[in-house]
Amino acid sequence: MSKQVRTRLAIFASGSGSNFEVIAKAIQSGKINAELCLLICDQPEAYVLKRAEASGIEARLLQPNQYLNKMTFEQAVLGVLKEMKIDLIILAGYMRIVGKTLLGAYPDRILNIHPSLLPFFPGKQAVLDAFAAGVKETGVTVHLVDQGIDTGPILSQKKVMVESGDTLTSLEEKVHKVEHSMYPYVIQTYIEKLQKEQVHS
Ligand code: GAR
Repeated sequence: MSKQVRTRLAIFASGSGSNFEVIAKAIQSGKINAELCLLICDQPEAYVLKRAEASGIEARLLQPNQYLNKMTFEQAVLGVLKEMKIDLIILAGYMRIVGKTLLGAYPDRILNIHPSLLPFFPGKQAVLDAFAAGVKETGVTVHLVDQGIDTGPILSQKKVMVESGDTLTSLEEKVHKVEHSMYPYVIQTYIEKLQKEQVHS
């Protein structure tokens, strides 16, 4: 019987990287059956780079402004992904729209987490937008990435209630907490689905 090869993950992140760290720990503890091979980061000051260093995970900083255009930037990213034999891309606070080059190379192989109940409040400041709109509930969405901004088939959603005493900070904390419990589980479920499809193909 052939041994199943572990799925090789790359995380893309632009900021603090709390989701990166939670995913790295979930892999270490066996909650996610995969190998975290790579962090791709587009911001030199991002704290996620320090988290990667502390956990001994290879990080590559690729800055779009050092390339001619989106296509050549993504071709450079793709070169690293191929070199590292990456199977699945996990966006975790990656504040950039994924373009045709990466989408074409990884169809249905790019997951994103977004801090709202999509299709409500897409974009870069979803928690602030939901708070400012005065909604009673918001939440978290994990979805497959397509060419749109926070569109693509939804894999899972969880609600977060906005209570009367909530501030923007407390709401952000609640949303992050849900993200941290939700993303590892959805990633593992998706990996299992891909592996089943592979066995039956
Ligand atoms: C997370 O809340 C994630 O949902 C959001 O960025 C934050 C990153 O936090 N992503 C988006 O808004 C994508 N449109 P982290 O750096 O602490 O993981």
